[in-house]
Amino acid sequence: MPPKTRQPNAPLIRSRKPDALGWADVTPKAQFLNRRQLMAAGAAGLGAIAAPGLLKAASPYSTDAEANTLKEITSYNNFYEFGWDKGDPAAIADQLTTDPWSIEIAGMVDKPGTYDIADITKTAPIEERIYRFRCVEAWSMVIPWNGFQLSALLDRVGVQSGAKYVAFQTLLRPDEMPGQRAGGIDWPYVEGLRLDEAMNPLTLLATGIYGEPMPNQNGAPIRLVVPWKYGFKSIKSIVKITLTDTQPPTTWNILQPREYGFYANVNPTVDHPRWSQATERRIGGGLFGARQETFMFNGYGDEVADMYAGMDLAKNY
Ligand code: MTE
Repeated sequence: MPPKTRQPNAPLIRSRKPDALGWADVTPKAQFLNRRQLMAAGAAGLGAIAAPGLLKAASPYSTDAEANTLKEITSYNNFYEFGWDKGDPAAIADQLTTDPWSIEIAGMVDKPGTYDIADITKTAPIEERIYRFRCVEAWSMVIPWNGFQLSALLDRVGVQSGAKYVAFQTLLRPDEMPGQRAGGIDWPYVEGLRLDEAMNPLTLLATGIYGEPMPNQNGAPIRLVVPWKYGFKSIKSIVKITLTDTQPPTTWNILQPREYGFYANVNPTVDHPRWSQATERRIGGGLFGARQETFMFNGYGDEVADMYAGMDLAKNY
């Protein structure tokens, strides 16, 4: 997101046009829609098209909105470890070594330790969830993630009573992440959730997109996805998860506390100090129809609003 103090070479106005990514890569999307139709037919009992046993019902948590193409999802990214431009991660993130990979689980848990990624991903079956994704910069996408609920991992390691928050940390490897050799952010990138937010069934640890392993620019090999919050909460390339009783520091809040809060729930009624949050530009939406209304909690209010009952969300942004 645009820093208040810009990096030396950052353009003042980002010149990428909404339709610059086009629909060049329609194949994955077409295949994907076809598969979804098969699944729907199977669920409705219409299909002798494929063996019903092979059909997995679409997740009730998935949106029906049309998903962005793999190309769009992998070429317009925020991953500041790889630069400040939206195209930087796609251009250079492939230099990141993601194998071997492990996650240290620490703090108030019964089974702390360093867990290999192969072990972590066996925590629960990998599901497909198609989520709306809303960046604080007022653009959005619809992304078919593959992953499992963070709650399954937390249950597995045993959260101790008294733990109230979950802190996350991204890999620190300046050799492979040129953005970490530059100033601007106090690396490594860190994020956090309240324990109930972390346990919410919508909260995913994602390991892939469109059935493909997570592309490096999207946070390989494993990242958080919290669909009712602005995208910056969805920390990429996680190496450490800590259960704690105190609210953990978070990267954008440290950098610009008046602009980015700890909660960062999508809220069309609370503008960013420098722009409105009432609408969003859907990436790939074309010149017309690209601008859409933004919904409270990004449209996930039924699932999450209860967690914030009694809180003043204009103050707790
Ligand atoms: N995680 C790390 N480690 N570094 C980052 O710069 N950017 C965040 C979030 N997670 C970021 C990160 C922001 S601002 C957004 S909008 C999303 O990742 C973008 O995710 P995407 O590129 O997969 O769309």
